Amino acid sequence: MTDLLSATDRAAGPGPTGVPSFAVISGEQVKKALEGSEKQLVELVEATYRLHGAGDSVNPPSYFLRFPDRPTARIIALPASIGGSVHVDGLKWISSFPENVKEGLPRASAVLILNDHDTGYPFACLESSIISATRTAASAALAADWLSRNRPRPRRVGFCGTGLIARYIHTFLARTGWTFDAIGVHDLSADSAEGFCGYLRESGAEEPVTVHDSAESLIRSSDLVVFATVAGRPHVTVPGWFAHNPLVLHVSLRDLAPEVLLASANFVDDVEHCLKAETSPHLAEQRTGSRDFLNGTLNDVMLGRAAPPQDQPVIFSPFGLGVLDLAVGKYVYDQVARAGQLRIVEDFFHDLRRYG
Ligand SMILES: NC(=O)c1ccc[n+]([C@@H]2O[C@H](COP(=O)([O-])OP(=O)(O)OC[C@H]3O[C@@H](n4cnc5c(N)ncnc54)[C@H](O)[C@@H]3O)[C@@H](O)[C@H]2O)c1
Repeated sequence: MTDLLSATDRAAGPGPTGVPSFAVISGEQVKKALEGSEKQLVELVEATYRLHGAGDSVNPPSYFLRFPDRPTARIIALPASIGGSVHVDGLKWISSFPENVKEGLPRASAVLILNDHDTGYPFACLESSIISATRTAASAALAADWLSRNRPRPRRVGFCGTGLIARYIHTFLARTGWTFDAIGVHDLSADSAEGFCGYLRESGAEEPVTVHDSAESLIRSSDLVVFATVAGRPHVTVPGWFAHNPLVLHVSLRDLAPEVLLASANFVDDVEHCLKAETSPHLAEQRTGSRDFLNGTLNDVMLGRAAPPQDQPVIFSPFGLGVLDLAVGKYVYDQVARAGQLRIVEDFFHDLRRYG
C-alpha cells in the first residue's frame, strides 16, 4: 500500500518555461487509466482511509448548493487535502440532478481540480463522475471485505437501487474476488432493474438473478445488501427484515429508518461528516440525542480498534470523503502523465510577471 502511494509522482509544478502547466483529462482518459485496476484501487482507498484516520489530511465539511426552483437537485463542493506521498490539494464539484435519468443522461456529473502542494496552482481538471463512482465502489468493496472478516462471508448479494453506482459496486466486488450463490435486484423503476440485469449478463455474471418486487423481499433474501437509491428519506423502517443479520452497504445514506440503525452495529467512514445532511445516522443521532449507536469507523476496524459483531446486522454508511477523490484523481493524473498523454492547455496561466 505504501508503495502504491509513494509510486505517485510529484504534482506538475512549473513547466519547462517556469510557467505552471494545466492539463484537462477527459472521461475517456479517466476510464482507460482506471480500467482493470480494481484491486489496486481498493488498496489505494484503504491507504487513504488510513492516512485520513492518522490525521494526515484536511477534509472540511462538504458544501451543499441547493435550489428553491429545483428541489431534487444539488451541487456539492468537496474541498480536501491529502498528505502522505499523494501530497495534493483539490476540489471535487459534483452535481446531482435525478431528473436527468429520464432524459437519458446520468444523474451525476463532476469535475475534480488538483492543486499543487507547494504553489497552490491548479494543475489539472479531470472529468470526475467516473472517479467518484470508482472511489465509492472501491470503498464499498473494501468495507464488504473488512466487515465480513470475522463473520460468515456473504453468499447472496442484493442491490436495492440499480443505477450507475450499483453497477460500479458490482464490478468492484466481482473484480476483487467476490462470487455469490445468488444476486437479487430491486428498483422502483422496472427499466432500471431490467437495465441492471442486462449489465449483469454482459459482465459475465454467472449467478442466478432474481428481480424482487419489494425491498422487504430483497433484504430478507440477501446477506450482503447494497443500497444505491436516490431516496431522500427512509423507506425501510422494519428492523425485523434484517433478523438474519446481513451486512449492509448503505451507500445512498438515507434509506434506513433510525430504528433499523438502532437495532444494528453501525460503522461510518468519518463520524463528523456522516452525521450531517439528514443522513440516516444523522436522524438516529437526532432521535437518541447521542452517538452511542455508532460502533466506529472503517479505519477503527482496519486498526483492530472495533469489530463487527456476529449477532447483529452490520451497517456501513459512508458519507464519501473528498480525500478519496483526490487520491484516485492523482492516480489517474499520474497514469496519464506516464503514458505521455496529458493534454496541456497552452497559455492557461497568463500575465505571471508581477509588474508586467
Ligand atoms: N456515499 C457515497 O460516497 C456516494 C457516492 C456516490 C453516490 N452516492 C449515492 O448513490 C446513490 C445512487 O447513485 P446513482 O448515480 O446510481 O443514481 P441513479 O439515479 O443512477 O440510480 C438510482 C436508482 O435508485 C432507484 N430508486 C430510487 N428510489 C428507490 C427506492 N426507494 N427503492 C428502490 N430503488 C429506488 C431509481 O429508480 C434509480 O434506478 C445516490 O443516492 C448517490 O447520492 C453515494
